[in-house]
Amino acid sequence: MSTKKLARGVALVGAGMSKFGAFKGKTSRDLFVEAFVEMLASVDKPFDPKTIDALYVGNYSSDLFENQGHTAPIMASWVGLTPIPAVRVEDACASAGVALREGILAIASGMCDIVVVGGVEKMTDLATEKVTDTLATAADSQYEIPAGFTFPGFYAAMATSYMAAYGATPETFMKVGIKNHNNGSLNEKAQFGAKITTLMEARKASAAKKGLPVPEWKDELEFLKDERANPIIAWPMRLYDCSPVSDGAAVALLVSEELAGKFSDNPIFVAGVGQASDGALHDREDLNSIPSARLAGQQAYEMAGIQPKDIDFAEVHDCFTIAEIIASEDLGFFEKGEGWKAAEAGETARSGKKPINLSGGLKSKGHPVGASGVGQVVEVWKQLRGQAGERQLPGKLKFGLTHNVGGTGQTCVVHIFERRD
Ligand code: COA
Repeated sequence: MSTKKLARGVALVGAGMSKFGAFKGKTSRDLFVEAFVEMLASVDKPFDPKTIDALYVGNYSSDLFENQGHTAPIMASWVGLTPIPAVRVEDACASAGVALREGILAIASGMCDIVVVGGVEKMTDLATEKVTDTLATAADSQYEIPAGFTFPGFYAAMATSYMAAYGATPETFMKVGIKNHNNGSLNEKAQFGAKITTLMEARKASAAKKGLPVPEWKDELEFLKDERANPIIAWPMRLYDCSPVSDGAAVALLVSEELAGKFSDNPIFVAGVGQASDGALHDREDLNSIPSARLAGQQAYEMAGIQPKDIDFAEVHDCFTIAEIIASEDLGFFEKGEGWKAAEAGETARSGKKPINLSGGLKSKGHPVGASGVGQVVEVWKQLRGQAGERQLPGKLKFGLTHNVGGTGQTCVVHIFERRD
């Protein structure tokens, strides 16, 4: 594929999200409104929402999760944006990342000047087994699901393949989870915003309070190896290797580059965009890499005119801990087969040379599937503008990357954002 350029530049001038979690009594509308209001508050200069030209909403399956189809105009109506065009984008867990791309293309084409992109999912109304079935419709229902696969199962297959090929162990994956919970403990929007040590101590305290034997875990690795605390979901993926079932929404405001100064003195620019697709996992020769992620990454780097080494930090799609390690290789941060060693060595931690998932990632922050791609953008927006509070990465940051995967990589979309001053 040849290098592509946007026909005109696009800037990110606002971003917000609801809290991610399990919210009984709230609908996706409530969550979308929450995110939209926070996005409005994040815009530096006053602007009239009536000037917004279009809305793109990522949503995987409000149909099955909430018995509500035709989601986009409902969201438009609830945030007061009707009658502008409202478009729902569905690409499984990459729905919001693809909605973002569509919003960028709408501005680059000249059809729109000001666009809202977002994502929303309300998953927790269903019991986990129903959620698992609903998510499984993002796989190949003719060839994979009848064979007994679920999403934890797919990523478990990738994890066993990766371990056999390169020598990683289940402990490697646990270390990714520990790192993401450490990051998420600094994120007030995270569903599981606590360090694993904190959760471990809470379990001990609860046992003591109930007069039960108090477990003697000496550290978080011992806790994670304990079958009672961290049960196997699909070996080697345990509970703390899985992103949770989540409710949440995220929203971003995009404008043409020439308008950016009217919205902010500190806008963030879209430097690179990439997207690719692929057949289902059962049809792939190599389970240790996601080809669509490699391609999407290459396209984004080429458009941005930079290399993986130039990325200061990345929000990657860690729906399962193995996915983060594979992503770190697919995006060129580490050589193939080396990502697990980098994770073990702390290179992807806050203090490492390539910080990944400063927000806590999908693992700790939560994974309302249709919202996650724009949720990642919220973190990049905050970090690049120096507004990430306690979890702000020190130093001058220039490039942040988001990597959003649909299914097992049937879709992958990568964006690179740039701070120019
Ligand atoms: N990480 C850590 N703790 C978790 C968790 C997670 N992902 N999910 C739930 N928990 C905790 C709950 O808080 C609860 O703790 P408590 O007993 O102290 O209150 C406990 O584990 C049980 O929660 P429950 O909601 O009953 O878990 P579950 O067994 O129904 O679901 C999974 C657990 C892993 C099966 C579910 O989260 C899941 O399916 N995750 C993957 C989602 C997915 O596939 N997304 C798409 C990716 S492509």
